[in-house]
Amino acid sequence: MRYLYAMSIQKEQKRITTNTILEMKQNGEKIAMLTAYDYSMAKMLDEAGVDVLLVGDSASNVMAGHETTLPITLDQMIYHAQSVVRAAKRSLVVVDLPFGSYQGNTKRALDSSIRIMKESGAHAVKLEGGSEVTDSIRRILTAGIPVMGHLGLTPQSIYKFGTYAVRAKEEAEANKLRTDALLLEKAGCFSLVLEKIPAILAEEVSKSLHIPTIGIGAGKGTDGQVLVSHDMLGINHEFNPRFLRRYARLHEIIQEAVQHYTKDVKENKFPSDSEQY
Ligand code: KIV
Repeated sequence: MRYLYAMSIQKEQKRITTNTILEMKQNGEKIAMLTAYDYSMAKMLDEAGVDVLLVGDSASNVMAGHETTLPITLDQMIYHAQSVVRAAKRSLVVVDLPFGSYQGNTKRALDSSIRIMKESGAHAVKLEGGSEVTDSIRRILTAGIPVMGHLGLTPQSIYKFGTYAVRAKEEAEANKLRTDALLLEKAGCFSLVLEKIPAILAEEVSKSLHIPTIGIGAGKGTDGQVLVSHDMLGINHEFNPRFLRRYARLHEIIQEAVQHYTKDVKENKFPSDSEQY
């Protein structure tokens, strides 16, 4: 009985791999991905059953308060990834290659990916771009490191775009995205993030690929969804794009708890007799 229970726990905890998420696409099961940057949050998300934890370079905004994702360094990404990997018992952990750690140099792309895998214990890397980065993807794959692609609104190119508005609305950009998606699949990506593009295009691209697509602001026709956890949990309450669904309002809950605690301290109501030694 005990053995069976232990077996069922073990079964439940079976690690999600890149093969698992490919099978999920083949079986029509949607993939749930969320960002995580620290141990405590990653533990909660992993225990709640999310499939993929993305150590996104959005840590630059969410954790460090920068305006863009550009300033975060490879060392900082590795630090976040190490904390997430320690917590993740079941989820696949994917780590963003930060700006400047892979562009225009396949050797640097390989070296950065090896550092992430070796120093954090993560399971895959993600990078942004299409035809510009396929050589890097091929070179990273020579080391046996799985790569997730990212097309559409690619925040590391914000100064090229000049805006966080929806991408690929015009036919020329949509055509480039279609071609890039096929190139990334051919180069060997195991999955592809599609960010902030028209739903109809995301669905078309998803159907044209064997690898799973994971959308953010790309409608429901992708093979999975990703959100920034601090946004969907309402910790960050100032960001309100149309695509974001808030599943909790933690900003209000935390504010209220901290106000209550502060009041109790000031009024000498905390700690009580039973909360001391
Ligand atoms: O860094 C990030 O959080 C991301 C997701 C928005 C896909 O790349």
